[in-house]
Amino acid sequence: MSAAAIAERGDAGAVAGATTSRPVVAVEKLNHYFGGGEARNQVLFDNGIEIPAGQLVVMTGPSGAGKTTLLTLIGALRSVQEGRIEVLGRNLSQLGGGELVEIRRDIGFVFQMHNLFEALSAYENVKMAAQLADMPPAEMRRRGTGILERLGLGHRIDYKPRFLSGGERQRVAIGRALVNHPKLVLADEPTAALDRDSTRNVIDLLKQQTVEHGSAVMMVTHDHRIISSADRLVHMVDGHIMSDVVLHDALRICEFLRPIELFKALTPRQLTDVAERMTKRHYAASETVIREGEPGEEFFLVSDGEVDVIRADHEVARLGAGDFFGEVALLSGEPRNATVVAVNGVDTYVLGKSDFQTALATSQSFRDQLYRVYFMRH
Ligand SMILES: Nc1ncnc2c1ncn2[C@@H]1O[C@H](COP(=O)(O)OP(=O)(O)OP(=O)(O)O)[C@@H](O)[C@H]1O
Ligand SMILES: [Mg+2]
Repeated sequence: MSAAAIAERGDAGAVAGATTSRPVVAVEKLNHYFGGGEARNQVLFDNGIEIPAGQLVVMTGPSGAGKTTLLTLIGALRSVQEGRIEVLGRNLSQLGGGELVEIRRDIGFVFQMHNLFEALSAYENVKMAAQLADMPPAEMRRRGTGILERLGLGHRIDYKPRFLSGGERQRVAIGRALVNHPKLVLADEPTAALDRDSTRNVIDLLKQQTVEHGSAVMMVTHDHRIISSADRLVHMVDGHIMSDVVLHDALRICEFLRPIELFKALTPRQLTDVAERMTKRHYAASETVIREGEPGEEFFLVSDGEVDVIRADHEVARLGAGDFFGEVALLSGEPRNATVVAVNGVDTYVLGKSDFQTALATSQSFRDQLYRVYFMRH
């Protein structure tokens, strides 16, 4: 991985490997105001962003920064006052009522107020969206039930919203937004009401939309774990897009490593070096990651999911996101002193033995940190 891990805004299309085709979203010099006269309050200032097909953009920023306002403008749910927004090649300011309805139909919305039809079951709510797209009934049934099952709602297909929990309603709304494989998905904190497994499901589904259907996804979230799936991070403060970076693997790993105690000792350069040497690896539920007695060749960091550490047939620890293992054998040169098994599906970042040793050699404080944990675990 080259040092050019960060691509500035505007290069985004090229970096994401998109062709020269037009971006799904193009925003230019966008200002927005609420209120009028004395009370007029500017909430968006000169914002610009281009989102190519296939990109999963995660937007973060403090409350009141203008994230929802920007999303609703792009979704044609609010009128553009100043500046220009083009969505799927259409300039929103030039569209009439009917055309706006049409363009909204091409967008999958997941907003905080999920607006499910109370009189309709979960499946019927999803089906409504599919009907709008003129899908043949058999295909509608297959996709509608398929997506609800993927979202863990197979047992809730015929329930009306009032019999569903907040998180279940949220997932129905997500199913409805995605059933037509829209070219653009706008999601405002789609995982806020969800537990870990549901969050994972939703993110996987959104990721799949970008990879398999070339959808662009713009998602507001405060959930740090989602960053590991993002292609790009946009940070908004006080109505301004303050930073906008396309993440390559190394940079994404860096973002993940940065808040972890063990890696705080590293300088940004050292952190990037470690991240560039790490590879991502997935383990299925119950799969063995390392086995007691075998030689230690790799160091592992859990990025999502959980593992059980088992010694002499007893579980001694359960580790989750941000935890690491495998360092003991690498530090001592002895065989693995424990077996580690994935609980559910788990994503890890893996560092090979020699790269691990290089990292140790680069930073005294990294070494100190590791030895501290090493002795605690012995
Ligand atoms: N309908 C409205 N009328 C007047 N002011 C509004 C309206 N909606 C939002 N605002 C103001 O615009 C600013 C941006 O709000 P917005 O909802 O876009 O923020 P946000 O970044 O989505 O915040 P949060 O993380 O809390 O959802 C805030 O100062 C808010 O008070
Ligand atoms: Mg908001």
